[in-house]
Amino acid sequence: MSNVSLPPRTAAVIPAAGRGLRLGPGAPKALRTLNGTPMLVHAVRAMAASNAVSLVVVVAPPDDTPAVRTLLTDLALPDRTDVVVVPGGANRQESVRLGLEALPGDVSIVLVHDAARPLVPVDTVDAVIDAVRDGARAVVPALPLADTVKEVEPREGAEKGEPEPVVATPERARLRAVQTPQGFDRETLVRAHAATGGSDGDGATDCAGLVERLGGPVVVVPGHEEAFKVTRPLDLVLAEAVLARRRANDGF
Ligand code: C5P
Repeated sequence: MSNVSLPPRTAAVIPAAGRGLRLGPGAPKALRTLNGTPMLVHAVRAMAASNAVSLVVVVAPPDDTPAVRTLLTDLALPDRTDVVVVPGGANRQESVRLGLEALPGDVSIVLVHDAARPLVPVDTVDAVIDAVRDGARAVVPALPLADTVKEVEPREGAEKGEPEPVVATPERARLRAVQTPQGFDRETLVRAHAATGGSDGDGATDCAGLVERLGGPVVVVPGHEEAFKVTRPLDLVLAEAVLARRRANDGF
């Protein structure tokens, strides 16, 4: 038996069960293609690019779970990386919880990464993992904001141009736009999800937010502009431009 202590095993959970309606009608967002390759495949590769990640759990749209399994079975990934596919739930938090339930007992660090951020660079993934290995219980990659942000009193009909009153202008220098993968010590994340009681966490849009609600410490590390979320049609154009630049730069 060796005395060398192994680093804690790290897994990535990819919630990919959303419909992605803001992208327009069509296939679930994770299965839309960028340069001919489904976004989900880019996202799985982005997680598997880290030497530290030995398991990727994909949470698929329930109706498309068999198709996603087939898609990922044929994917060439490093030998160290296993992929498991499970069906997702009604909202992001439920999908993440179903992914967490699929983790084997020896995983102690968990990344949660949106399929909708297919192009996150490996250095960002590693920076998040390193911060958890160094003792942080919840780590979020994030960037300063370019836009000033206003808090408003939301009004029905706003999307049709109905004016909304401004309530406050938070100090921009103190704000960060958060990305994924978010990294957690497993026990902290499981506890945070259990505390939602199976709900959507009152609209929590990220896992770190659930940890904050329990009073747990969350820290931010630098994110990356290429880790942006593909949400609207213009984001697809930007994502394909990033891929083209990578190919031109390094034959990616
Ligand atoms: O809706 P939003 O863009 O915030 O979704 C973020 C991520 O959560 C996406 O990758 C999406 O596929 C996933 N999701 C999920 N299950 C749902 C809804 C969203 O896995 N029911």
